[in-house]
Amino acid sequence: MALVSAKQMLEKARDGKYAVGQFNINNLEWTKSILQTAQELNSPVILGVSEGAGKYMTGFKTVTAMVKAMIEELNITVPVALHLDHGSYEGCYKCIEAGFSSIMFDGSHFPIAENIAKTKELVEVCKKKGLSLEAEVGSIGGEEDGVVGLGECADPDECKKIADLGVDILAAGIGNIHGKYPANWPGLRFDVLEAIKSKTGDMPLVLHGGTGIPTEMIKKAISLGVAKINVNTECQLAFQAATRKYVEEGKDLVGKGFDPRKLLAPGAQAIKDTVKEKMEIFGSIGKA
Ligand code: 13P
Repeated sequence: MALVSAKQMLEKARDGKYAVGQFNINNLEWTKSILQTAQELNSPVILGVSEGAGKYMTGFKTVTAMVKAMIEELNITVPVALHLDHGSYEGCYKCIEAGFSSIMFDGSHFPIAENIAKTKELVEVCKKKGLSLEAEVGSIGGEEDGVVGLGECADPDECKKIADLGVDILAAGIGNIHGKYPANWPGLRFDVLEAIKSKTGDMPLVLHGGTGIPTEMIKKAISLGVAKINVNTECQLAFQAATRKYVEEGKDLVGKGFDPRKLLAPGAQAIKDTVKEKMEIFGSIGKA
């Protein structure tokens, strides 16, 4: 199946009261593990690519070519969107050119007037090309690829202004942060989420920083209009723990245990297990 825009799968998720996971990819193993799990569980999926990860994989064109070829070679039939995560203005255009099917323009660090002007322009371009566009209001805290936010909550009126520009998906800060949550994290601000939902109506909302949010909070967020949940760090931690275990148990020293196909196998399986666990919580299994 060809890459699809995230618009339709997220509208379906919003109506069906479940969420589609965006899992960030870093390399071939990541991509393969996520695609295979989505197919096995008959779930739609969004592959997220940060600008840093895109650069690491030698560029967005390489990423598109790899993902498209993998979908074909693995006979993936579930809907897959290839999505730029926290894109800069320039990065958005690069991904549009490279053949991504969805982009996020993170204009949250611009003054609202500039965020609006740039988002408006990208709305037109994406509509013409059939891509879905995610916008962000109120920066998401934590650090990701050098992008540091303050964890503020989005202003519901600003959310409405951006939603009214015609974006397809809206990410709004509600106390969520990227990476591990500190022990004293007070939790998601459901009052803010409700206020945003009441202003933005039908717009599918995105919850960034999916790593480590307790299941009950995830479920409540979905019931209040979240249709897309981003997970990155959790797959990295699962990969790291499994790889560490393999090496600490000395398995790389036995026979051909040094072969990268063996060395990376436990980590790849750990990514699959994590993606499965998240898809179960998000309710996207069987929804392809
Ligand atoms: P985590 O790394 O906290 O899972 O966040 C991922 C994310 O929001 C990507 O945009």
